[in-house]
Amino acid sequence: MKKLQRDAIDRLAPYVPGKPVAEVQREYGIADIIKMASNENPLGASPKAVSAVKKAAEQVYFYPEGSCFELRKALAEHLQMPADNLIFGNGSDELLLLISQVFLNPGDEVLQGEPKLTFVEYKAVTTIADAVPVIIDMKDFGYDLKAMAEKISEKTKVVFIANPNNPTGTLLTKEQLEDFLGKLSEETVVVLDEAYYEYVGRADYPESIEYVKQGRNIIVLRTFSKIYGLAGLRLGYGIAKKELIELLEKARQPFNVNLLAQAAGIAALKDTKFVEESKQVNNEGKRWLGDALEAMGIPFVPSEANFILFDVKTEAKTLTEALMKEGVIVRCIGTGTTIRVTIGTMQQNRRFITALKKVLKNK
Ligand SMILES: Cc1ncc(COP(=O)(O)O)c(C=O)c1O
Repeated sequence: MKKLQRDAIDRLAPYVPGKPVAEVQREYGIADIIKMASNENPLGASPKAVSAVKKAAEQVYFYPEGSCFELRKALAEHLQMPADNLIFGNGSDELLLLISQVFLNPGDEVLQGEPKLTFVEYKAVTTIADAVPVIIDMKDFGYDLKAMAEKISEKTKVVFIANPNNPTGTLLTKEQLEDFLGKLSEETVVVLDEAYYEYVGRADYPESIEYVKQGRNIIVLRTFSKIYGLAGLRLGYGIAKKELIELLEKARQPFNVNLLAQAAGIAALKDTKFVEESKQVNNEGKRWLGDALEAMGIPFVPSEANFILFDVKTEAKTLTEALMKEGVIVRCIGTGTTIRVTIGTMQQNRRFITALKKVLKNK
């Protein structure tokens, strides 16, 4: 096998997803499981998107529209951006890989946060391209932009920033981000990964599309997996200046976004009521969970997204397993003593807190 594989493969580790519900059911013999591990929408998908998928199911003998023609038109209108500033992917995950394939030569440096405290795929796609991950430790669970700026070199080709960041939920403000962007050369592509964009309610959150309009080398990534509730269909998109999109389009697979995802995306964009309701449920749940954790004396990172990272001050892996036995799947991620919980419906949030109290008492 050693002779068959590329050396880079040795430096990769398979992605560890949240445990599937069926596996937990089988392993622990519990029927009633709640999954609060993958930052999915607890309200499900927009009913409009679901009926669009059902309708489109009749058409699946056709290849999908390779350019996402209708979806592109709908999103361009939604964002008030020209259609040729957009690219679609099989989830934004695919676009991260595409970015690495298009921009990274072996030896190029890629600035990013610690994999355990930011999105782990940044390191993976860097490594696959034989580029060099330049890892900057997080500070107070957020990006340390001063330390990151110190690592800028002539070899810096790509910078990955998740805003809000996953798994910490921290936010970089417009002022902080712009100060950092000003330190980069024209030879660097900045990827602003905004998977949780729609959840943010802060006035100091940068409107990153403006940077694209200014002609900067910035690719904004967003997804239909989170607030739109379409994680299972895999649909993400990038917003960038035309010249960058053209490069990405050259390397993109011709039919990368499936037919059902395209139909669902168009319908989901129209369902503003569902998005608003999802935001409201998230805000309420976030407040309630924050209060509950505080009352229990459990420190947590204030979040701008649809999840909360909290510190159990003991081995998180054992506690995550114990929660699973109570039928609650959360994610053991971060420092080793931290757990990330996706904000659920109020019923799910209550059940999670009850389970957490129980496992902490029995510890
Ligand atoms: C920061 C961040 N970027 C990208 C993704 C991937 O999203 P998608 O489902 O669109 O591939 C996630 C998913 O959890 C994420 O948290």
